[in-house]
Amino acid sequence: MAEKASVGSGRQARLQPELFSTGLGVLMATLGSAVGLGNIWKFPYLTGKNGGAAFLIVYLACTVLVGFPIMVAEQMLGRKGRADAVTTFRKISPRTAWWLIGAMGVLAAFVIMAYYTEVAGWVFAYVVKSFSHGLVTTDAAVTNAAFNQLVASPWLSLVVQWVVLLLVGLIIVLGVTKGIEATTKRLLPILAGLLVIIGIRSLTLPGAAKGLEFLFKPDFSALTAQAVMTALGLAFFKLSIGMGAMLTYGSYYSEDQNIPANAARVVGADLLVSLLAGVAIFPAVFAFGLQPAAGAQLLFITIPTVFASMPFGQVFMVLFFLLTSFAAIGAMLSLIEVVVAFLVNQGLSRKLSTLITVVAMALVGSLAALSNSVLANVKVFGLTFFDLFDYVSSNLLLPIGGLLIAVFVAWVWGWPKFQAALSNGDTLANAGLLRVIFTILKFVTPLLVLLILLTGLNIIKFG
Ligand code: TRP
Repeated sequence: MAEKASVGSGRQARLQPELFSTGLGVLMATLGSAVGLGNIWKFPYLTGKNGGAAFLIVYLACTVLVGFPIMVAEQMLGRKGRADAVTTFRKISPRTAWWLIGAMGVLAAFVIMAYYTEVAGWVFAYVVKSFSHGLVTTDAAVTNAAFNQLVASPWLSLVVQWVVLLLVGLIIVLGVTKGIEATTKRLLPILAGLLVIIGIRSLTLPGAAKGLEFLFKPDFSALTAQAVMTALGLAFFKLSIGMGAMLTYGSYYSEDQNIPANAARVVGADLLVSLLAGVAIFPAVFAFGLQPAAGAQLLFITIPTVFASMPFGQVFMVLFFLLTSFAAIGAMLSLIEVVVAFLVNQGLSRKLSTLITVVAMALVGSLAALSNSVLANVKVFGLTFFDLFDYVSSNLLLPIGGLLIAVFVAWVWGWPKFQAALSNGDTLANAGLLRVIFTILKFVTPLLVLLILLTGLNIIKFG
């Protein structure tokens, strides 16, 4: 809407929220939140660990039936409330407990950032490591050793995490349009282009076909309830939903933004990036006799082998890790923004809110950073802090948050308001599409999430 398109200064953010300036800006910022380490690090390693194509298919189903409708619902709520996750629920549903969804989201932001910043730190460190010729090698022993040397050093792990938090904090202080929008708009297309180049090289390696088969030829017999829960968690994590990040971004959308269309583009593009990452990595895994189930280090031990078999491999590898770090930054901006927007609405300045958030995240994050060194033997429920944060956020906090959002929108808020909000007051002729999304949100999404959670947690059993 014209009157809101101009940007208020950061100081006034509480009264009149700053909006993303253009439609393309909205798409790229939202995509910037979705695309990140989830596509390039987590998607390949989880797909590898959970048996390939069958996992991918479950992940796809979760994306369409759970991810997409919740993304639409969240963005709609945010635009309606024009505030952070907690305040939005307070405004839309006063004197109820629904604001707890937002509070849970703020908590989830800390839990996710605690380990996300560490993985982003590894990527940063690999930008530097890539300059050394030794890392561009097809020798698995060398790439494994390089990774282990990094994570086993407590100081190095902490420093890379702090560097990441400092950088993201600085961008956040700059504000929504100048910081978030400007950064993501420029970098995502370059990253996608680079993934295509790596994918082509990987596909033309001898023995590459096995990797494609792994990624696209399903074997459902190996699929466990745990794996299905992991796929659901990945769908939430990938699309940045279930904790109010998409809600917070929705609060920066203009009134004439076509939310379902934008969300569909984001989901599609995000999926494409994940698949490109899969095609870049799995053929190389099989060509060089690596293990698809290597776990969290898969990216870091596979990518160097691809570049080692390519002209100018070292240059490309520096570029690859650099762009991956940018993608991670775009995603982290949305995680931090959930907390910062909340604090700003409590009356703090944007600068102070960012400072508090970043320092608190560094403290919680150090538990994850030290998980492979001094805290390696400290286990909670049998998991290191790193794994615990990952498990609790992706498998519990996000799905439960998403479930509650779906229930709130479809069962409490109801169809008339949903229809009015997403057709932009009947200026969009999308009633049929909205009906489909609403019906999925009302019945399929909550049931599926509940079922997957209960079986994944072993609370109910089949067969
Ligand atoms: N989607 C991002 C990724 O794939 C991570 C992320 C950013 C996220 N914001 C989020 C995950 C909010 C959950 C909730 O890397």
